[in-house]
Amino acid sequence: MSTRTAHGKDTVASLRLQLARLEREAAARQRQLERYAADLREVFKQERIRSQQLRRSYKATVLALANAVEARDAYTGRHAQRVAAYGLRIAHAAAIEVDPQVEFGFLLHDVGKVAVPDAVLFKPAPLSEQERALVRRHPEVGSEILRHIDFLDEAKEVVRHHHERWDGGGYPDRLAGEAIPLTARVFALADALDALTSERPYRAAISFAEARGLIRAEAGGQFDPAIVAAYETVPDNAFAQLRDGLA
Ligand SMILES: [Fe+2]
Repeated sequence: MSTRTAHGKDTVASLRLQLARLEREAAARQRQLERYAADLREVFKQERIRSQQLRRSYKATVLALANAVEARDAYTGRHAQRVAAYGLRIAHAAAIEVDPQVEFGFLLHDVGKVAVPDAVLFKPAPLSEQERALVRRHPEVGSEILRHIDFLDEAKEVVRHHHERWDGGGYPDRLAGEAIPLTARVFALADALDALTSERPYRAAISFAEARGLIRAEAGGQFDPAIVAAYETVPDNAFAQLRDGLA
């Protein structure tokens, strides 16, 4: 065997060794990456579970607050939940993407009524000018109450502006048209629909069909005409089903 051939064999052997080492290293790296990927999947899974739990407790807190407001008023019953359901249905018909926290705004819209005395809130007779002014403060008081709750940012807009009118004649800021936040415009219609179709101490409830005529007449007045048009695509029995589902 020539020196040259022996040298060639040495080189091949050393290359094989080198290759085997590289393969072992690559396999070890792959195993490590697989471990990282598995860890990451587990972290994501835990994170998702935590955020679902957090959302559930947010909703429970919001409902507790909304129920505390409604518990004072035997006549409104599940008004907040009905209005939230109607509002989401109308938003869906208008192809408006509603952030989950906007639903919290729907549920909490009248939270500011905690500042209205019982004698005024439940007065069976017409309110004096002064009493009316007190009631009309509830959107501002409500947004004040929620001021420091960060996760309710968009919800606060609904609370503050749910009594604005499309024609600018509402309160508290007399906003008009598209200056009123879109979700507050949707909510205003849902709120009126439930008010009209619910019995109050001073008047009987009217049917969804009768309410439709009144709401239609307010397109461009109290309500955004585009939201009225979206509402018109939702049949009366869809609202009735939502109401009965919450009864
Ligand atoms: Fe209100």
